[in-house]
Amino acid sequence: MSFVFLALVAFALVREFRPAWGPIQARFRVAMERYGGTERARAFHPGIKQIWIPKIHTVDRCITCHLGYEWGSVLPTTLPQPLTPHPNLAYMDKHPFQDFGCTTCHGGQGWATSRASAHGDEGWNDPMLSSAIASRNGLQKGDLIQMRCNFCHRHAVTTPGMEQIDLGKKLYKENRCRLCHTVEGRGGTKGPELTYFGDKNPELVDFTHVTGTHTLFNWTFEHLLAPDQISPKTTMPTFRFTPQEARALTLMLLSWRREEFPPEYIPAPIEEPPAMPNSSR
Ligand code: HEC
Ligand code: HEC
Ligand code: HEC
Ligand code: HEC
Repeated sequence: MSFVFLALVAFALVREFRPAWGPIQARFRVAMERYGGTERARAFHPGIKQIWIPKIHTVDRCITCHLGYEWGSVLPTTLPQPLTPHPNLAYMDKHPFQDFGCTTCHGGQGWATSRASAHGDEGWNDPMLSSAIASRNGLQKGDLIQMRCNFCHRHAVTTPGMEQIDLGKKLYKENRCRLCHTVEGRGGTKGPELTYFGDKNPELVDFTHVTGTHTLFNWTFEHLLAPDQISPKTTMPTFRFTPQEARALTLMLLSWRREEFPPEYIPAPIEEPPAMPNSSR
C-alpha cells in the first residue's frame, strides 16, 4: 500500500515539476547545434530565461520558450514556433528587446512560464494579442498589435507600421468627432469624454443590443456602425463607416488607456508642418 502511495506521490511530483519548456529548450539546442554550430549550442544553458525591466515593471519570461527571437542571423525563419526568430520589422531597432521586452507590444502575462497562462485568453484584461483573437474580430494579428503601439505613439498623426491606427486617427479628424467628445481637455460635451475610453469596464457596458460577443471591442465596433441601434436614444449620427473603417476606429479608441511609461518611452511629439512660405497671413 505505502509503496503504491509513494509511487503515486513521486509521479505527481515529476508531473508538477517537469516544465513544459523543457522539451522546447532541448529542441532549441538541437537547432542551434545544426545552424549555429557546437560552440553556440554549448553556450546555451537550460532554465528559465527572462527580460527584466524594472523601469516599466516588466518581467517577461516569454523567451523561456521563444528562444530564437534574437537569432535571426543564425536560425531559419522556417523553424516552427516557438523557436522562430522574431520577424525582422523595419522599426525593431527603435524598440530593443532588452528595453521593451515582449508584453509591451504583445500583451499577455510576462512572468508566466506555461503557454496557457503566458498567452492568456480573451477573458483577461490584457490577453496576448493572438491570431485567434484577431480573426474573431475580423483583423490580422499585426493589426491588433497596433492598439498597443498607440499606447506610446498616440500623439503622432501617422507612424510606419500603424496603418490601422493611422486610418482611425484620420477618420476621427475628418468626421469631427471632437464636436461632441472631449479628448485630453479639448472638444465638445454632447457625448461622453473619450480620453481613456480603452479603460472602460466592460461589466458596466450595456450589451442589450449588441449582436456579436460581449466584448468592449464589439460594443464599440457595432456602435460606430449604427449608434442608434446600440444606444437607441443617442444623438450620435450614423457615419456610414465600412466595417474596416469601424475596426480601425475601434482599435484607436481602445488604445486610449492610462498607461504610465517613463518619458523616455514616449516618442517626441511630431512638429506641425511649417506654414507655406508665401501663404497670406
Ligand atoms: C511554455 C512555452 C511558451 C511561453 C512561456 C510563451 N509562448 Fe508563445 N508560443 C508558444 C508555442 C508552442 C507557440 C506556437 C503554438 C501557438 O500558436 O500557440 C507560441 C506562439 C506564440 C505566438 C504566435 C501565435 C499567434 O496566435 O499569434 C506569439 C505572438 C507568442 N507565442 C507570443 C508570446 C509572448 C508574448 C509570450 C510571453 C508573454 C509567450 N508567447 C510565452 C510557447 C510559449
Ligand atoms: C515593438 C513591438 C514588439 C516587441 C517589443 C516584440 N514584438 Fe513580437 N511582434 C511584433 C509585431 C508587430 C509582430 C508581427 C505581427 C504580424 O504582423 O503578424 C510580432 C510577431 C511576433 C511573433 C509571431 C511571429 C509569427 O510569424 O506569427 C512572435 C512569436 C513574437 N512576435 C514574439 C515576441 C517575443 C518573444 C518578444 C520579446 C522577446 C517580442 N515578440 C517583442 C511586435 C513586437
Ligand atoms: C512603450 C512605448 C512604445 C511602444 C509600445 C511602441 N513604440 Fe514605437 N517608438 C517608441 C519610442 C520611444 C521610439 C523612439 C522615438 C525616437 O527615436 O524619437 C519609437 C520609434 C518608432 C518608430 C520610428 C520613429 C517614428 O515615430 O516614425 C516607428 C516606425 C515605431 N516606433 C513604430 C512602432 C510600432 C509599429 C509599434 C507597435 C508594434 C510600436 N512602435 C510600439 C515607443 C514605443
Ligand atoms: C452629434 C454629437 C456626436 C458626434 C459628432 C459623435 N458622437 Fe459619439 N456619442 C455621442 C453621444 C450623445 C454618445 C452617448 C450615447 C451613445 O452611446 O451613443 C456618444 C457615444 C460615443 C461612444 C461611447 C462612449 C462611452 O463611454 O459610452 C464612443 C466610443 C463614441 N461616441 C465615438 C465617437 C466617434 C469615434 C465619433 C466620430 C466618428 C463620434 N463619436 C461622433 C455624440 C456624438
